[in-house]
This record gives sequence, structure tokens and C-alpha cells, in this order.
Amino acid sequence: TKNSVFKNEPFTDFLLEENKQAMQAALVKVKKELGQTYPLTIGKDKISTEEVIVSTNPGKVDEVIGRVSRGTKAYAEQAMQEALAAFQLWKNVPPAERADYLFKAAELMRERKYEFSAMLVYEVGKKWAEADADTTEAIDFMEFYAREMIRLSETNQHQPLTPVEGETTEMTYIPLGVGVVISPFNFPLAIMAGTTVAGIVSGNAVILKPADSAPVIAAKFVQLMEEVGLPSGVLNFIPGDGIEVGEYLVEHPQTRFISFTGSREVGCRIYERASKVQSGQIWLKRVIAEMGGKDGVVVDETADLDAAAQAIVASAFGFQGQKCSAGSRAIVVESVYEEIAQKVTALTKELAVGLPEDNPSMGPVIDQKAYEKVLAYIEIGKEEGKLIAGGAKAPGNGYYIEPTVFKDVDSKARIMQEEIFGPVLALTKAANWEEAIEIYNETDYGLTGAFFSENEERIQRALATMHCGNLYINKKCTGALVGVHPFGGFNMSGTDSKAGGYDYLLLFTQGKMTARKQ
Ligand code: NAD
Ligand code: ALA
Repeated sequence: TKNSVFKNEPFTDFLLEENKQAMQAALVKVKKELGQTYPLTIGKDKISTEEVIVSTNPGKVDEVIGRVSRGTKAYAEQAMQEALAAFQLWKNVPPAERADYLFKAAELMRERKYEFSAMLVYEVGKKWAEADADTTEAIDFMEFYAREMIRLSETNQHQPLTPVEGETTEMTYIPLGVGVVISPFNFPLAIMAGTTVAGIVSGNAVILKPADSAPVIAAKFVQLMEEVGLPSGVLNFIPGDGIEVGEYLVEHPQTRFISFTGSREVGCRIYERASKVQSGQIWLKRVIAEMGGKDGVVVDETADLDAAAQAIVASAFGFQGQKCSAGSRAIVVESVYEEIAQKVTALTKELAVGLPEDNPSMGPVIDQKAYEKVLAYIEIGKEEGKLIAGGAKAPGNGYYIEPTVFKDVDSKARIMQEEIFGPVLALTKAANWEEAIEIYNETDYGLTGAFFSENEERIQRALATMHCGNLYINKKCTGALVGVHPFGGFNMSGTDSKAGGYDYLLLFTQGKMTARKQ
């Protein structure tokens, strides 16, 4: 309950027969609901458009997940007007009351956890545990930001000011205005919901534009927020084209902030467009942009090699490598390099690729474009390194690719520098641990990293010198937990907003200082 301290929602243990059956039942139930249509939500209006986005199962490409109404510029403008009007009321709703909507939504999502996860299995091709982690994280974000808003609203909780005689001073954190939330496909529930509710609970009105390949799960979340009675206009839902809808709203003079999570290319473009002050605009837009990664695992010769190899494989191939945090590089000290390569190859060969609803080790990549891109990188990899696992399409009626490992890849090679966002791992050799850290840092990105060693002095050096937002010692570089591992990266990985952290809501508010003479 809201009076308790924040605790992470536990992951579901699918080895327990009872949980396994609950998931199977949810998959059956949700399958019957596939193919429905979903409207736009603008203010209190539900608008069904003739043109729709057809969301399909990446693991079974002729299965339609749903048909979602497609926003246009005109609808985006309408949403802006509704959001502006709603903001005037919402900003005055007491923070604790705003937080209540999140607590209620978290409770409902917890009750329907298996159904949300089942939808993720179908819509984006997550295996059960990955889908469960996505739903769990969405619940965590709601529980966490609700509590954070309450804390932020309590006098002097966040920033106790230095008292002076004869004055009463106070800092309050007031909302910004209308924000545009643009979310990616890979955590289509957790990131979409987390970035949306952070804006809302802080007192802003939000226009949500979800990823084109995962609009149904977003529509389900919007329905949930309606169910808990969120006032209309506070959350407006406009799926649609990145340029037509996304960019229109990014450039809109009345947009106050943009919360973007997605690729470097789109993030840089948004940053540039948002910086232009439009006619009639009376603020500088705030841009939160969380972008890609070229994350890596570093292993020295003192490390537990089995643990390191397991972490390399888990970091590289979780959700088919489609995580900003994916460890797509492994940098290994020469004397243990061959041994690590062998262990990684053996573990990779154990990974079965298949239809996500059957809960294999790995599923498909998200769509045709991703499929072609990843296969093209595999061809580049064949030129740049030595193929030691995978390297081809995998069978099935979807975008299946074998988990692929290359070794002896130069640290400057394309597959060591560019985000592939698929199941492709590159191994490179370093003369010693110091050189391994140097290679790790030779990237434009800086999101996650891991360092495996048993030597305390080296661990201290790694902690101080590996330049990334989320650094893990002797554990994999994916799977950040809300409240435990605030998440966000350096350099071209983004603005280091630290989602799920205790500074996050400051990004959606502005501090107002008042000093009153006594
Ligand atoms: P993407 O950049 O292709 O799309 C993200 C969103 O931006 C989508 O909703 C898309 O429709 C929209 N968009 C596209 N063009 C736009 C434009 N010109 N103006 C406004 N909006 C536009 O990313 P994706 O493929 O959905 O997601 C994968 C990427 O996201 C990877 O690079 C991954 O590393 C990154 N990511 C980063 C984080 C993080 O926290 N750093 C988390 C998840 C994903
Ligand atoms: N927050 C996600 C992770 O840490 C992306 O893997």
C-alpha cells in the first residue's frame, strides 16, 4: 500500500506449476482477444480512424494482434488543445491525489499481470520471463513515482534550505505543462508506462505516441488509466507515424517538454528540432532523450570464468539483444580469451530459438526492417571476425535469427562500434585488464557495462574509469531494477535521466523558491 516503503514487485517463477498454468491460461484468454480495434484517446473522445496501424506477431507474422487508430497532424493538434485545457485543472490537483491514480493502476495491473505479459509475448515476441519483467517494471514505476511525487511535495524533503533569521523559505516543485512522450518498442509496457506516469504524476498533461510496432499494449495501458478514473485530457493517446505525429508535436510551440526513449538517430533529430524556438513559444523546451547503447562486458584473468561467460550470454541475447542495455561486446584478457570464447559458444548453442508463446530461450526480432538490418550486420561480422556460433536465419514463420557470436573482432570494427539491436555478440582480445577497460571506453555510447574480476584494486579502477551510466561488477549488464539501479546513460546514450531513480521527477517539474519575511 501507499503507506509502505517502495519494494520491487517480485518476478514470477515459471518453474512453479501454478504460475506456469496461470501464464498458459492468460495466453489462451488473450489470444481470443487478438485482432480487436483500438481508438485514439483525445480528451474524453474516443476516435476510430479509417486508417489503422496493424500490429502483428513478429513470431507468427500472419497473426494480427490488433488494429490501432492512426493519428494525424490534425488529431495531434486536437490532442494538444485538450491537453492544454486539462493541464489547467490537473496542475492544481494535490500531489497525493495524483499519486493515488498510480497506486490504483499499479494494483489493477498486478491483478492482471499475466494478461499484460501474455500480450507482450504476442505483440513483441518476448519469452515469458522477459514479458514478466516488463510488466513487473511497469508496476514498479507506478509504485515508485507515486511515492516520489509525495516525497517531492513534502516541504523541505527534497532540498532542505539553509535557514536565515527573519525569513521563511521554501522550495516547491511545480509541473511544467504539456509533455509529449515518445516511446520505443522494446520495453513497450515498462518504458511507455513509466515515462508517461512520471509526467502525469508530476502534474503535467501528456500526449503519448507509442512505438509503431507495439501500439496495442499501449492502448491496454491507456484503458487501465481510464478505468482508475484519471481525468480526461490528462493522458491523450495518439499512435502514428514518427514524423507526422511525433515531429509535429516536438515542434509544437505549446509543447513544454519531450520525453523520448529510442534510437540515437531519432533522439538527435528531436533534440535539434526541439531547440528551435517557434513563433509564440515562451519557454525553452526540456528534452529528455534516452538513446542507444554499445554496452560491453570486460573479463580479466582472475575472474570466475563460468560466471563471466554466463553473464556475457545473458547480456547479449536477452530479448534477442533488443535492449539498450544489451552487452553486444565482450572484451577479454588474452590469457583467458580462448576459454571464455569456448564457454560462450557452448552456452550460446544451448539457446533454442522459437515461438515466444511456447517459452523458448529466444524469440524473433521485432519486424522485417530489424530482421534485414541484423542479417546485414551478420554479413559485416563475417568480414570483420571469425564466426563461432549462429550466423544465419532461424526457421519459423517470423523474424527468427540464430544467436550469433564473432570472435577476434578489432575494437574499431563496425560490429564493435555500431548498435545492432539484435542477437549479435562480438568478442575482442585485450593484452591486459587495463587495455580491456580502454577498449570498453572506445565508444560513442555509455549506457551499461560490466567488469568481471576477483582483484579488488582492479575493481576499484574499473569503478572509477569505465565511463557509463550503469556499471555492474561481477554481474550482467542488463536488468536494472526500479529504485535499486537508477537507469540512464552517458554520451550518445542520452541525457542520463536515471529512470527509476530518486532524481527523476525533477525532470518533469520546475523548482519554485519562495522567501517570506517574518
Ligand atoms: P526508434 O528511435 O526507431 O523509435 C522510437 C520512437 O520514436 C517511436 O515511437 C517512433 O515512432 C518515434 N519516432 C521516429 N521518428 C521520429 C521523429 N522524427 N520524431 C519524433 N518521433 C519519432 O527506436 P525503437 O526502434 O523503437 O527502439 C530501439 C532503440 O531505443 C534502440 O536504439 C535502443 O537502444 C533505444 N532504447 C533506449 C533506452 C534507454 O533507456 N536508453 C531504452 C529502450 C530503448
Ligand atoms: N532497464 C533495462 C535494463 O537494464 C533496459 O536492461
